[in-house]
Amino acid sequence: MTTATATVDISLEEDGSSSSPNFEKVAHQAFRDRWKETDDTMCRHSMSFHLQHSLRSDFFASYLYLMEKIPLVKLFPVTCEYIKGEKQFYYRAQQFYEDVPASEEGMMGDFVEISNVDLEGSREFLQRFVGPGKAGTHCALDCGSGIGRVTKGVLLPVFEKMEMADMMEHFLLHAHEEYLGDDADRIETYYCYNLQEFTPPKNKYDVIWMQWVACHLTDKDLLSFLLRCKKSVRPNGVIIIKDNMARQGCKLDPIDSSISRHLDIMKCIIAKAGLEILAIEKQDGFPEVIMPVWMIAMK
Ligand SMILES: C[S@@+](CC[C@H](N)C(=O)[O-])C[C@H]1O[C@@H](n2cnc3c(N)ncnc32)[C@H](O)[C@@H]1O
Repeated sequence: MTTATATVDISLEEDGSSSSPNFEKVAHQAFRDRWKETDDTMCRHSMSFHLQHSLRSDFFASYLYLMEKIPLVKLFPVTCEYIKGEKQFYYRAQQFYEDVPASEEGMMGDFVEISNVDLEGSREFLQRFVGPGKAGTHCALDCGSGIGRVTKGVLLPVFEKMEMADMMEHFLLHAHEEYLGDDADRIETYYCYNLQEFTPPKNKYDVIWMQWVACHLTDKDLLSFLLRCKKSVRPNGVIIIKDNMARQGCKLDPIDSSISRHLDIMKCIIAKAGLEILAIEKQDGFPEVIMPVWMIAMK
């Protein structure tokens, strides 16, 4: 038992309940004596000693156990923490990308050398879903587009018109003023929005591409965004997610504030959004050291 009970004379039954009618008061006093710093008001409003004890030892122990064992439980406090009214998960990503240069190196982190393999893999995957009887080639939306690396290398060669959405203005400006060259004329709209707050226009796109950005949304926001995308694609339209997928559970990268989910977790979110998976393919040719990257097409 704790020091508190040792210093006061109360008898406990085997199940921990008290035989004394004064138990609550004595236990309360014991709690006060033990926690000297506890101020009077807190003490007056404090729960009974037993409840405190259960909460501390049992509830938190279970909570910590679940946090340790179940990645999704761990992610909840990490991604949903608010400080000064702002969700820290998004605040940190915003801070991170403010310092990222508007360049291919910036978009690819430490792995710019795999950009061409990545684009080739995406072009081949996309081909399967566009053409006669499949998605049209009129207009596509690149979400989390950055400077437009995917827009330029995968989407503009296929679609007549494009739209781009990203939360960082300096990436979109660089895309328009420099990176896309003359093809910038075919970008109908640049949306400078956080995807968690962005509602794409209804019934507009043949393809919505989301590369390395689903990882920047919480499960709940990703699910809602997919629901909005569903309304935004035209008949036969396709949504494609390309992202890092954790080998196990979920992994949080605290530097850029992103979560990599196991493929099964991603499939679960997609199913909850009422979308049907058309194809799933692992990107080949990436070094073993990096997390596996998968492409998922859905409608
Ligand atoms: C790793 S970069 C990938 C850029 C591009 N998709 C590519 O493959 O080259 C991630 C991009 O997502 C954007 N981003 C991150 N979180 C976002 C959010 N919540 N809403 C909109 N854009 C976001 C960043 O600004 C950045 O441009």
